[in-house]
Amino acid sequence: MSEMFSLKGRVALVTGASRGLGFAMANALAENGATVVVNARDTGTLSAAAEKIGAEALPFDVADAATSRAALEGIVERHGRLDILINNAGIQHRSPFVEWEDEDFDRVIAINLSACFRMMREAVRLMLPNKFGRIINIGSVAAILGRPTIHA
Ligand SMILES: NC(=O)c1ccc[n+]([C@@H]2O[C@H](COP(=O)([O-])OP(=O)(O)OC[C@H]3O[C@@H](n4cnc5c(N)ncnc54)[C@H](OP(=O)(O)O)[C@@H]3O)[C@@H](O)[C@H]2O)c1
Repeated sequence: MSEMFSLKGRVALVTGASRGLGFAMANALAENGATVVVNARDTGTLSAAAEKIGAEALPFDVADAATSRAALEGIVERHGRLDILINNAGIQHRSPFVEWEDEDFDRVIAINLSACFRMMREAVRLMLPNKFGRIINIGSVAAILGRPTIHA
């Protein structure tokens, strides 16, 4: 039965996987046989997390377009393919509405929204030749629901 769900031979990238939900998802993919690449910005935390689950640590900022593209291409160069992308990296900024600066809004949108679009586009370019790919975007109820301090 477990063979039916085996991810052996599949290569997966999970962004924002040095802790929290991303780490849990990366762990689950690794436990089910996938070759897993984990991403986050802080290299120390990321390396420690990667070691725990036998994943490759690939530090980069998903909001940096050129670095993200090179990172995805590097995965295919090293592992031969990219099958699964989980866009999980995300941040939150909390403060009363009138205290939000333009930079706060732009930073949240750049990481939580624009980066997902770009990562998907670049991943699909790499997945198309294999005619196989799975992309999961992690959202939040905060994307559609305003809160007293959460506005982006
Ligand atoms: N936890 C919740 O209750 C909840 C609810 C709804 C939605 N979500 C969504 O679920 C996802 C994960 O949430 P979480 O609570 O597990 O988050 P978390 O514990 O704060 O972890 C966020 C991860 O993303 C990484 N990250 C942040 N900015 C990044 C960037 N620019 N480039 C690359 N990596 C980046 C962080 O590492 P570095 O800081 O080292 O980069 C960390 O590994 C987020 O997208 C969040 O919006 C969570």
